[in-house]
Amino acid sequence: MGHSAAVWDHRTAIEVTKDWNGIDQVVLRNPQGASARVSLHGGQVTSWRNEQGEELLFTSSKAIFKPPKAMRGGIPICFPQFGNCGSLEQHGFARNKLWTIDNNPPPLPPNDSHGKSFVDLLLKPSEEDLKGWPHSFEFRLRISLAADGVLTLISRIRNINGRPFSFSFAYHTYLSVSDISEVRIEGLETLDYLDNLCQRERFTEQGDAITFESEVDRVYLSSSHLIAVLDHEKKRTFVIRKEGLPDVVVWNPWDKKSKAMADFGDEEYKQMLCVDGAAIEKPITLKPGEEWTGRLELSVVPSSFCSEYLDH
Ligand code: BG6
Repeated sequence: MGHSAAVWDHRTAIEVTKDWNGIDQVVLRNPQGASARVSLHGGQVTSWRNEQGEELLFTSSKAIFKPPKAMRGGIPICFPQFGNCGSLEQHGFARNKLWTIDNNPPPLPPNDSHGKSFVDLLLKPSEEDLKGWPHSFEFRLRISLAADGVLTLISRIRNINGRPFSFSFAYHTYLSVSDISEVRIEGLETLDYLDNLCQRERFTEQGDAITFESEVDRVYLSSSHLIAVLDHEKKRTFVIRKEGLPDVVVWNPWDKKSKAMADFGDEEYKQMLCVDGAAIEKPITLKPGEEWTGRLELSVVPSSFCSEYLDH
């Protein structure tokens, strides 16, 4: 009827600009007006907005947007370790490195590209990195925004070493919430978790859904692939779908720790919650030539639709 469907070409939906430190950042847009922003510093998603332009990820008002540290917010990538053990820096070096745009990535299944606006990034170790962690790898990160606003991160890590290596990993996702006391997580009930506030001692979750009234810093083990974060005040639910990432980190610093962090406002713990798809308890081991894939999909649905959504 003279009305043809628009063909969405992802190349036209990408914009590369410089941030105020001169570092490239990529903005993805979908035809409905949702957007995501990715910095080449750390390959870190620094913004994800819905069609109404509302920001869905938390960024601290005190965040420092200046290398060499990751800025406090968005989705920093923790690799090759989560946490702080051995000589490597806390949460690994990937979030503190300059990534490049990968113009010729090995193909992904067509569904990961079709109808999506996306960018492919690449991280390879520098001579300096190899001194601290002597394993050659290629880390490819695809970040995509779909027509329905869903944000997907696909990490592919390949061993190009002569020897096996092991790593742990997390998408350290800072969700923006209206008020932490109004938030609950579903999908982690009855699971075992390691408590970072008790030297990673192992406990079993007893209650129903998880709610918040003090500092929480836990690694829930072997969860299902679907987690929901319900924000009562906003009547919306973040749905986190993950593959290759058995564990889930849940972190809120609460009041005391907030005050101790230079790049975090004293009261900001009320507006954020980190819920990370992760692989921590059992490190991933790659033999020479092997590749691992870890996939995270974030969407937001009205809370009334949530149970129905989770059932599917
Ligand atoms: C959490 C850790 O996931 O990340 C916490 O479990 C840590 O212990 C937090 O404080 C933030 O880490 P960083 O290095 O970004 O300040």
